[in-house]
Amino acid sequence: MDTGYTIVDLAMDMRNLQRALLHFSEIDSTNRFLLDENDYSGGTVVLADYQSAGRGRFGRIWQSSPGDALLFSIVLKEKFCDFSLSVYPLLSAVAVFNGLNSVLPESTRLTVKWPNDLLLNGKKVCGILAQSRMKGSKCEKLVVGIGLNVNQPPEFFRKDLKNATSVFQETGKLWNRFEILKRVLEEMDLLLNILQDSGECSIIQMWQRACDSMGRKIAIDDGRKIVEGIFTGIAEDGALQLNTGSGTHIFYAGDVTVVKE
Ligand code: BTN
Repeated sequence: MDTGYTIVDLAMDMRNLQRALLHFSEIDSTNRFLLDENDYSGGTVVLADYQSAGRGRFGRIWQSSPGDALLFSIVLKEKFCDFSLSVYPLLSAVAVFNGLNSVLPESTRLTVKWPNDLLLNGKKVCGILAQSRMKGSKCEKLVVGIGLNVNQPPEFFRKDLKNATSVFQETGKLWNRFEILKRVLEEMDLLLNILQDSGECSIIQMWQRACDSMGRKIAIDDGRKIVEGIFTGIAEDGALQLNTGSGTHIFYAGDVTVVKE
């Protein structure tokens, strides 16, 4: 049977992730695949060189040129469904932050942006989409999808992608995608251990340390209104806490920009 993928042995011993990775040269969406297919055990990683219908947040399309980006998803099941689902975008962002920072030159500045982006020198380099499959009120599985712009040339970031960048664009050199992927997966496996041993709070603390907009004035657009205030922290359930001067407001989704003063 032609499955459409080849199996790559990552040759890494991990406690929570599978070392046999499914590699597609092309697929519609790695998130869609793991959400719909039930034959793959928890910890399976699916990587694609190209997605014809890559999914982004708020129903947006996630675009990438063939072979240039890291486009991958991980399915988590069973015990991982017992944690707050909102911790997974934060955990994945910390995994990318730690993994990518371990290879980046010191001259670059990587930060996390609530809820699930990473910025390189102030521009979006990575987006994360966490989705779950529920049976009634019970979570059957959750899928975290990561799109990391690695080798896209500057021309890729046309007018509508002008606030995005790639690792290549910021460092001036082409990168081995597998080397970065392995670093990120290593970190992800480690963070999943920490989550099980110490709970969501320890992941939130790590995320907060990687964020440079905390304590600053931000504007948050939740799709209905734009609210300004001081970004004071992340609550236990992953919500953003904003002090507007008339008390603390809580947001579960939205686009954040730092207000220049
Ligand atoms: C965002 O809008 O910022 C989230 C983008 C997430 C894109 C990744 S690429 C791999 C995985 N498969 C998808 O279809 N989407 C996610």
